[in-house]
Amino acid sequence: MKLLAINGSRRKNGNTSWLIQSLLAPADKGGAQTESIFLGDYNIGACTGCEGCSSSWECVLKDDFAQIIKKIDAADGIVLASPTYWYSVTSDMKRFIDRCYSLIQFPVNRKQWIGKYQGTGKACVTAAICEQSEASAMGNTLSLLTDFSKDIGMDVIASVKALGFFEAGSIKADHALLEKAETTGQKLFDRLKR
Ligand SMILES: Cc1cc2nc3c(=O)[nH]c(=O)nc-3n(C[C@H](O)[C@H](O)[C@H](O)COP(=O)(O)O)c2cc1C
Repeated sequence: MKLLAINGSRRKNGNTSWLIQSLLAPADKGGAQTESIFLGDYNIGACTGCEGCSSSWECVLKDDFAQIIKKIDAADGIVLASPTYWYSVTSDMKRFIDRCYSLIQFPVNRKQWIGKYQGTGKACVTAAICEQSEASAMGNTLSLLTDFSKDIGMDVIASVKALGFFEAGSIKADHALLEKAETTGQKLFDRLKR
């Protein structure tokens, strides 16, 4: 079993990393193969809206994007996580999501689409972190990650919201939240074992 975590933060020791670590811990302990990647380590250009992917499931732009899709193709479970930057996901995460336009097709009309991973049994957990303690400060970070994951055909089994974390790694002090994240990670692992 393989789990892949995709991190939209540039802070290697940031709160998103710690949250991901807790989400992956049960799968790690259970013997699954886990990998965590930072989108900022990859060269991913902006979607140009060329529609070159309209009938191929593949983006025509040549950069590191295809490497990540290969990893998603091979994974059974995905953790998609981003800090909030101005009420939404980071620009690294948004650029990646835009490029994933190649993971949906519109076979009949523009009102209906199918996701590449529909029917594959890929399960996903989404997670978002922000500084302020009111949920409104998170804007659409979590709903964007979740709606996107569903659109490409993944089964989103849970979402984790982490409010009130500013300094890199400050989330480590919140044992209750990280335990809750582990419970969510266990749920993901159990689901994939079925
Ligand atoms: C450019 C930028 C924009 C931010 N915008 C918001 C925001 O809109 N709302 C909020 O609550 N926190 C905001 N933050 C704070 C981060 O979400 C917060 O520090 C988070 O813990 C960073 O996660 P990381 O440690 O994984 O990088 C912003 C931070 C940066 C650098």
